[in-house]
Formats: sequence, structure tokens, C-alpha cells
Amino acid sequence: MTPKLEVRDISKSFGTLEVLRGISIDVADHEFLAIVGPSGCGKTTLLRTIAGIETSDTGSIRVDGKQVTKPGADRGFVFQQDCLFPWRTVWENTIFGLEINGKVSAETTARTRQLLQLVGLTGFEKYYPTQLSGGMRQRVNLARALAINPEVLIMDEPFSALDAQTREVMQLELTRIWQQGRKTVLFITHQIDEAVFLADRVVVLGRRPGRIKEVVPIDLPRPRGLAVKRDPRFVTYVDRVWNLIENDVRDSVREDATVAS
Ligand SMILES: Nc1ncnc2c1ncn2[C@@H]1O[C@H](COP(=O)(O)OP(=O)(O)OP(=O)(O)O)[C@@H](O)[C@H]1O
Ligand SMILES: [Mg+2]
Repeated sequence: MTPKLEVRDISKSFGTLEVLRGISIDVADHEFLAIVGPSGCGKTTLLRTIAGIETSDTGSIRVDGKQVTKPGADRGFVFQQDCLFPWRTVWENTIFGLEINGKVSAETTARTRQLLQLVGLTGFEKYYPTQLSGGMRQRVNLARALAINPEVLIMDEPFSALDAQTREVMQLELTRIWQQGRKTVLFITHQIDEAVFLADRVVVLGRRPGRIKEVVPIDLPRPRGLAVKRDPRFVTYVDRVWNLIENDVRDSVREDATVAS
């Protein structure tokens, strides 16, 4: 069966800095893939390449067997910082992707309304980003990425700016949305328990140049509630992933300090 997303032998350098080396992975339709790895190992660069915003030096990205050369409506991107337009309302921000893809219609408008309800923002359509909390802004961000109804949802540390409680609520929201829409999701996080909670598989990248160190399948039943975080199997997975990256995290902090000095 053709994988939904095929990442083949992706390598990338910025000048003399080698960032990614030979990354290959197949992601199945409807799979939730989390990506963890030390800071600076190339996670964002990898996702930007998959999104078609960045080009790689070698290799190829395919969605449904079709090579990616530029951004497209088949892939929705949620950035680490919310990048809402301050001059647009919640509604206008949410439909932005539809507008640039020329897809505003009665049907997509109705769908977008449902999406805002799904992320708990009904009633806030006319608010501007400055009038929202950080968590609400992230939910607009998520609704905007989902509004184009992408096949693949690419998320780069989408919850990192949130407080711990809002983050847990958003994790639940995201699994609910994912379960309903059954998208293929790529999700970068620094929080290992978040990766294990959300994912079908956790990809562990080693320090720069980023390579796949191990892919850990998370065999926990779904739907998962927050109580699963206390399950001994959950704790074992978290320990395992943490053990895989612990030394790399330490080394990469030291190395960045050397590169910068
Ligand atoms: N446009 C660019 N030009 C030059 N170097 C870049 C560029 N983008 C990223 N880099 C470098 O590539 C390396 C990987 O960056 P990237 O943002 O992909 O890491 P990351 O794994 O997402 O890190 P973090 O976890 O801190 O977000 C870093 O050393 C960074 O300085
Ligand atoms: Mg990053």
C-alpha cells in the first residue's frame, strides 16, 4: 500500500552546517506521528521541508505518491508561534487559507463554523487576536490549519506557549479532532509525555546532523484519556524515549555553545 506520506533520504545543510542526514520514514494514512529530539537537531527544518516551505539537498517528499515541491492545500501547518494576523478577526484568520486557495464557498463556510465550535471558539468570531488568551490564539491557529481540510496536518510545537492545564486540554482536543477527522498528523514536541500520549509512533531524532535514532511504536489503547498518563506502560514508554535522547540533549546544548562562541 502507498504510504500517505513518504519521506525519502532527506539531507539538508545550511552553508557548512549539516542539519539533516538521510531521513527516511513512511507515514500511514491516519497515523499520528510524533517527532522528538534535542534542540537544533533539525525537527523544524524537516517539517518545513515536508510542508514545501524549505527545499532539501537530497531526497524527496511524496504525499499519496505525488512529489511535494511547494506548499499545498493537502498539507496544513501549525507553527510554534501563533502567526495570526492581528488586523484580522478570529473568523477572518480562520478562513485565510481557504481564501488564498480560492475555496470560500457556502460549504467551506459552514465547515469552518463547525470547526470553530469544535475548538470552543463559537461566539468569538469577531474578536481580534489581541483580545484572546494564548490558548485561544492557539486554537484559532489549529482551526485555521484544519479549515483547508488538509490530508496531512503538520504541527511544530503547537502547544509550547501554553500553561500546563491548557496544554492537557488541547492534547485531548487534538486527539478528539484527529479521531473524528482521521487526518495524518506530524507533531513535533519537546515534551516526551505529550509525544507518547498523542502518537501511534514516536520518532526519536539524534543530535545534529539530525538522523532517525529510533522509531518507538506506542501500543496503548484508544481513545486515550488523561488517566493513561498514570498507566505503568505509559511511564515505561516515556522512560524509554527519554533514555534514547538524554545524552544527545546534554551534548547538543554543549555543542551549540561551542558553535556560537
Ligand atoms: N534558514 C536557516 N539558515 C541557517 N541556518 C538555519 C536555518 N534554519 C535553521 N538553521 C539551523 O539549522 C539547525 C536546525 O534548526 P531547526 O530549527 O530545524 O532545529 P529544531 O530541531 O527545530 O530545534 P528546536 O527544538 O530548538 O526548535 C540549527 O542549528 C539552526 O541554527
Ligand atoms: Mg524547532
